[in-house]
Amino acid sequence: MMRLFAATAAALLLLSSCEKSDEAPTVTDKAAAEVPKIAPVLATADAVDPHSYAKPLEARVYHVALDLNVDFDTRRVSGTATLDIDRKPDAKEIVLDDKGLEIQSITDGDKPLPYKVGAADESLGAPLAVTLNPDTKKLVITYKSAPNAEALQWLSPEQTAGKQHPYLFSQGEAIYNRTWIPTQDSPGIRQSWEAKIHVPAPLTAVMSAPRAAEPLTQGGETVFAFNMDKPVAPYLIAIAVGDLKFRSLGPRTGVWTEPSMLDAAASELADTEKMVDAAERIFGPYRWGRYDMLVLPPSFPLGGMENPTLTFLTPTFIAGDKSLVSLVAHELAHSWSGNLATNATWSDFWLNEGTTTYAERRIVESIYGKKAAAQQVSLGVDAMNKAVAENGGPTGADTKLHIDLKGRHPDDGLTDIAYEKGSAFLRTVEAVVGRDKFDAYMRGWFDRHAFQPVTSAMFLADLREHLVKGDKALEAKLQLDNWVYKPGIPSNLVKPDPQAFADADKAVAAFARGGPLDTAQWGKWSTDERLRFLNKLPRKLPKARLDTLEQGLKLNEIRNSEVRFAWLALAIGNRYDPAVPSVEQFVTSQGRGKFVRPLLSALADDKQWGRPKAVSIYAKARPLYHPSVTQRIDKLGLSGTAEDTKS
Ligand code: BES
Ligand code: ZN
Repeated sequence: MMRLFAATAAALLLLSSCEKSDEAPTVTDKAAAEVPKIAPVLATADAVDPHSYAKPLEARVYHVALDLNVDFDTRRVSGTATLDIDRKPDAKEIVLDDKGLEIQSITDGDKPLPYKVGAADESLGAPLAVTLNPDTKKLVITYKSAPNAEALQWLSPEQTAGKQHPYLFSQGEAIYNRTWIPTQDSPGIRQSWEAKIHVPAPLTAVMSAPRAAEPLTQGGETVFAFNMDKPVAPYLIAIAVGDLKFRSLGPRTGVWTEPSMLDAAASELADTEKMVDAAERIFGPYRWGRYDMLVLPPSFPLGGMENPTLTFLTPTFIAGDKSLVSLVAHELAHSWSGNLATNATWSDFWLNEGTTTYAERRIVESIYGKKAAAQQVSLGVDAMNKAVAENGGPTGADTKLHIDLKGRHPDDGLTDIAYEKGSAFLRTVEAVVGRDKFDAYMRGWFDRHAFQPVTSAMFLADLREHLVKGDKALEAKLQLDNWVYKPGIPSNLVKPDPQAFADADKAVAAFARGGPLDTAQWGKWSTDERLRFLNKLPRKLPKARLDTLEQGLKLNEIRNSEVRFAWLALAIGNRYDPAVPSVEQFVTSQGRGKFVRPLLSALADDKQWGRPKAVSIYAKARPLYHPSVTQRIDKLGLSGTAEDTKS
């Protein structure tokens, strides 16, 4: 094994290599040889994860085997997790992450092992310390998840499209998988995994891994088997169970969803195979085999989640005209940035999301053309500037790319600083060095760090070694450290094309001057032009002007979720009563955090006009939402049970 990592071994601590350094590599073909069987854990201070209790340099998990029963009546998964561990010979214990798991027993496969669950933190859960014997190499944990496990959402039949069968799905990122899988839940501790999942007979289970066997139905249950032979960050283990059907979209792409959604999903996703091909031309080989997608019920809390081999998608991206499929380009791009080269800690989340946002627009450009991509870049810069303003302005500590998250929830780093400042950084480097050089560099970065954890410091060191190569003038032009370690936006930012939205910007100016609304022009605009127009309108508008917009463009009924959101945000900011039923319909028909949280919180912030509306709407909406979404909205104090942190 040692030889495989010769290049990086100095910076990395590969525990297993110490024992096995005399063994010849057992894998010989190039593609397989670059997948380490036991992925390294970084030993540098910037790679210590404050959101995990694990001490991986003492003892770490490298493989997880789940055998779980999915019980919709008790809303629990239960069974065993068998963990293969790699340890220092003198390690006395291994520490896992545990949030609310009900543990029945832990053995080494034969004899019981003593264990202790430490004090629980509200966000992180508790350390689960298992005592190791000198020869312990395996743990068998028999356990159940709690009915309120935050990673899992259990839907009643009424909450699905088909209304006949219940549904379960998980969301692991950033630190939720510890509520249903007892392992070391840190993105820097990669694990290969396999699973046997027992579900009630009519239902289908899918996971973020290839199937390992044909499903077997017997005695009222079906058993599904999965195997992820590549080491992945544990937040990428995902499951969904429901009435699911599959449709092929191309040689290595396809979509799973409820039967009644299949036609709409497949037609919206028709360009996916082309996207995989385009991404490979830019970033190098797609290393995960198939790229399938699962379109979830409307309560899915995210736009998308890059679960390997099976991206999870909100149904709200289905606009009927493919105008929101940059979401797919984004989740696909994570197959390189995020899933191959993974942020070692959530402080370097921008390495996952900023790189992916950059890559997303390169894929969009290659399929939908330069103009579409330039428009998305421009919307991104607007979002970046807004994020700077919302995070303390140009000197705000949270406007750094590498941010300090100690003592905070990783979701605090989930801002457009990571996505859009991160993406702007790479776009700037691309512009300075030229696209050909930059593309060759990025391919090399992914090749050199495939299936490994990475940090900001590693990225900058790698850029200097392979791109800057001692060129002092280039080093000065790039401002690498300013981008990553300083707040605000460095002066070398490459501006978006000012012509990208020439028409929409003219229309904004005309409307702001009190001119008439050109509804014919709106009819010809792309979704992104419509978004630009709505987002750039003056934030305060009199009722008569809002009436003109609403009546001319029928915004309260618009089906495109992004346009609807942009309109409702403007309307709430102006206490525009005619939009309130539309707000209610929108936030009770889907549970995407990015849409429902800002709208409910804007209502809640307006104590007189908005708050009572927020209270009554949230009472109806809350049962639809995923725990990760209610957890944050509850803090607004809208439901009787939650503490009112604002009062
Ligand atoms: N990996 C993220 C989702 C995520 C981030 C979940 C942090 C939990 C914690 C995913 O790739 C993503 O960025 N989704 C976006 C869509 C994207 C097009 C910006 C979303 O869900 O809005
Ligand atoms: Zn992402």
